[in-house]
Amino acid sequence: MARRARMLAETETDLAGSWPCRYPTSVVWVSAGTWDGARTICPVVAHMVCCRHPFSVAIGLCRTEVAGGYYRRYAYDLAKETGEFVVNQPPVDSDALTALLGSYSGRGEAPDKFARAGLTAERGLCVAAPVIAECPLSLECAVTDEVIVGTHAVLIGRVLAIHGEGRS
Ligand SMILES: Cc1cc2nc3c(=O)[nH]c(=O)nc-3n(C[C@H](O)[C@H](O)[C@H](O)COP(=O)(O)O)c2cc1C
Repeated sequence: MARRARMLAETETDLAGSWPCRYPTSVVWVSAGTWDGARTICPVVAHMVCCRHPFSVAIGLCRTEVAGGYYRRYAYDLAKETGEFVVNQPPVDSDALTALLGSYSGRGEAPDKFARAGLTAERGLCVAAPVIAECPLSLECAVTDEVIVGTHAVLIGRVLAIHGEGRS
């Protein structure tokens, strides 16, 4: 099939037809929270392992209002407040839960996402942010850097603890 190419304007916010598509290919559930119980879960496609020593990951979170339904993520504010977040690998066949978790912000009086999704918040070893018990892998992270990229902020998190099946 012939491929099409087009330039993308810097101000373009409606990416329909360009994205979403098959890139990126995976989603993680970022959990963030405080010791006094504020918490949320934010599905994130903008994620990567960015360093092995020290083991570090990067996540991209929207930090401002943008046309097309983008808004500042509560997870961003909680991660900034605490300096912590958890990257959770979703269980298999959890697309419907991802859609639910990504369908509204957990800020303010919104229904608690753990309760809505039937997920269990576990106490982490190192961070206040809740670990999601049903996930096969969870990485407790401390924010070490932030890079502002337009509407989104990329938070670099140093992995402090790993919860996973199998090798530990
Ligand atoms: C599959 C999927 C991927 C998403 N990826 C991102 C992302 O990479 N960065 C982001 O800021 N929001 C992303 N979102 C949107 C947030 O998950 C969504 O706005 C979420 O409800 C924010 O919750 P919060 O305000 O409680 O943090 C994604 C949503 C879905 C469904």
